[in-house]
Amino acid sequence: MANKVVLKVSNLTKRFGSRIAVNNVSFSIHEGEIFGFLGPNGAGKSTTMKMICGLSTPTRGEINVCGFDIKRQREKALMSLGAMIENPLMYNYMSAYDNLKYFASLYKNVGKKEILACARIVGLQNRLKDLVGKYSLGMRQRLGIAQSLLHAPKLLILDEPLSGLDPAGVKEMRDFLRGLAKNNHIAIMVSSHMLGEMEQLCDTVAIINNGELLEIKHIEQLRQGIEGTKQIRFKVDYPNFAGSVVMRELKLPVQVVGNSILVKCGENRIKDITKLLVKRKVSILGVEVITKSLEEIFMDIIAHKTNGKTSIS
Ligand SMILES: Nc1ncnc2c1ncn2[C@@H]1O[C@H](COP(=O)(O)OP(=O)(O)OP(=O)(O)O)[C@@H](O)[C@H]1O
Ligand SMILES: [Mg+2]
Repeated sequence: MANKVVLKVSNLTKRFGSRIAVNNVSFSIHEGEIFGFLGPNGAGKSTTMKMICGLSTPTRGEINVCGFDIKRQREKALMSLGAMIENPLMYNYMSAYDNLKYFASLYKNVGKKEILACARIVGLQNRLKDLVGKYSLGMRQRLGIAQSLLHAPKLLILDEPLSGLDPAGVKEMRDFLRGLAKNNHIAIMVSSHMLGEMEQLCDTVAIINNGELLEIKHIEQLRQGIEGTKQIRFKVDYPNFAGSVVMRELKLPVQVVGNSILVKCGENRIKDITKLLVKRKVSILGVEVITKSLEEIFMDIIAHKTNGKTSIS
C-alpha cells in the first residue's frame, strides 16, 4: 500500500509480573486502511490497544502515531488518535449532545460545529436530544465513535466494536466503518475474535494468539488461502474407478471416501471433471463444493504457527 503510515508499532511487549501479555509485536497501519486485530479471548488485543492509546505503559518497544513517538511526544501522538476501548464511558442521565459537549470540552478548539459534524458522520444527528440511557447498544457504539472523532484524529482504535450487535447492527457498523475509512481517509484498527466479520470488514488482518502476532495478511491473501483449501465432492456409482481416472488423466489429488471422490481443486475444474467422468461412463449423483470454514482456517493458523509452519500461505 502506497499510503502514508499512520501507526507504526515495533517490538511491542507487555509483561504483567511473570505473564507476557504481548510479546514482541510489530506492524504498521496506513491512511484509509481498516486493520483487523483478530485473536481469541486473552490473546492480547486490548492490552496492545491500551498501549497504543497511552492507557498502559509498554514494557518494551516503540509506538509511533503520525510520526510522533508515544513516549517522547505523547501529547501530539495522542491527539492524532481517537479510541473506544471496551465500553465507551458515557453519562446515561445526560443527552447525547451533552455527552459529546462534555468530551469536547476536554480539547482545545472543539465546539458545537465539530460536535454536529461528528454526530452526522455516525448518523445520530436527529437523536442528539435523547438521553444516552435510552440509546440502543448500536447507537451507544456510534456515539462512542463520534466521541472519539471529535478532535479529528487520523487513527481510530476500536476494541471489539461489533460485539453485542445483532446481525443487522453488525452490517450497519461495517458499512459505517468502511465509509469512514474511505471518505474521511481515517486509518481504523478494529479488534475482534470473529474471523468472518473481520474478513468482510478489513483490508488487512493480523492474527494474534498468546500475545504473539502469528500472521499479517492482506484480505486477498487470506481469501486465496481459503480458496486453496477447497475440495469438490463428486458422489458417483464407481468411486474407485472415478478416482483413478481423475487422478491419472487430470493429475489432480483425489481421495475416495465412501461413495464419493474428493478432488482438491477450485470450482473452475468442475466442468472438466464432469466431462471426463461422463466420458468414462461414470454416473454423477451429486456435486458439492467443500470449503474449510474460516474458523477452521483460523485454528489451523494458530496450531501450525505454533510449530513454526503456516497452513494457508
Ligand atoms: N491489568 C492486568 N493485569 C494482569 N494481567 C492482565 C492485565 N490486563 C490483561 N492481562 C492479561 O493479559 C492477557 C491478555 O489480555 P487482553 O485483555 O489483552 O486480551 P484480549 O485479546 O483483549 O481478550 P478478550 O478477547 O477477552 O478481550 C490475559 O492473559 C490477561 O489476563
Ligand atoms: Mg479485549
